[in-house]
Amino acid sequence: MNGDATPDEAAIHLADVSKVFGKIGTDAAFRAVDGLNLDVRPGQMLALLGKTGCGKSTIFNMIAGLTAPSSGSVRVDGRDPFAEFDSFRGKMAIVFQNDRLLPWRTAIQNVELGLEMLEIPAAERRATAQQWLTKLGLGGHENDYPHALSGGMRQRVSIARAFATNANILLCDEPFSALDESTAGRLRAEFVRLVKENGKTAVFITHSISEALEIGDRIVVLKRPAMIAYDVRFDTSTGPEEREDIRSRIVEVLAV
Ligand SMILES: Nc1ncnc2c1ncn2[C@@H]1O[C@H](COP(=O)(O)OP(=O)(O)O)[C@@H](O)[C@H]1O
Ligand SMILES: [Mg+2]
Repeated sequence: MNGDATPDEAAIHLADVSKVFGKIGTDAAFRAVDGLNLDVRPGQMLALLGKTGCGKSTIFNMIAGLTAPSSGSVRVDGRDPFAEFDSFRGKMAIVFQNDRLLPWRTAIQNVELGLEMLEIPAAERRATAQQWLTKLGLGGHENDYPHALSGGMRQRVSIARAFATNANILLCDEPFSALDESTAGRLRAEFVRLVKENGKTAVFITHSISEALEIGDRIVVLKRPAMIAYDVRFDTSTGPEEREDIRSRIVEVLAV
């Protein structure tokens, strides 16, 4: 056990999880994740850090219930996200690298989408969507279509959409990596604040050490094939020197 929660307490629990692409036992088989054990406690903000191709998105897709593990078990709030996919509607929200907005819907209509699926009444839906767009600095852009918004603004809409459903668990797969660094930096800080204010559990995937240090209260460094090479927790009381030590350690771990 490498977490600080028991499996029953964990919001996300992965036990001996492997994922093999292609037919197991053949030359074409590719082991993207190998015997991964990971527990995320409720309210934790975990940065999953690793180089491109190390298996981050594969892990993400298993937690999100988009794909099943080849072996081992994945539990989110004690349930199997792949087998019980529909029961997670409104409980888990996802932000991808690409904003995935519907181009024929305005900003507010995109935020309302998740709420429509939860069958929230129209007036309440609109009010909630409006509130989240405002929190993300998009007041005045409610009726803009995605094509009229910058990349950073579009990603703000998709973050508003994720928070609006009031899901307890947020999963983010490199959501800011297509943005320029100053836009990404601002959005990252706001994202951390909103996650904390709203008591969410979040898994944030990144290939950037600096981003992991800004996001996480815990960083798990993955090495191919998606095995944990380093697992570290810190908080606001962690001073700059200690943070530098953590950074150096991560650099070391990723270099070998
Ligand atoms: N559907 C798939 N079929 C075959 N191989 C895949 C598939 N998805 C991912 N892979 C391979 O698994 C490895 C891990 O991929 P991925 O999880 O996307 O890594 P990351 O997100 O860390 O960049 C890569 O080598 C990738 O080519
Ligand atoms: Mg990826």
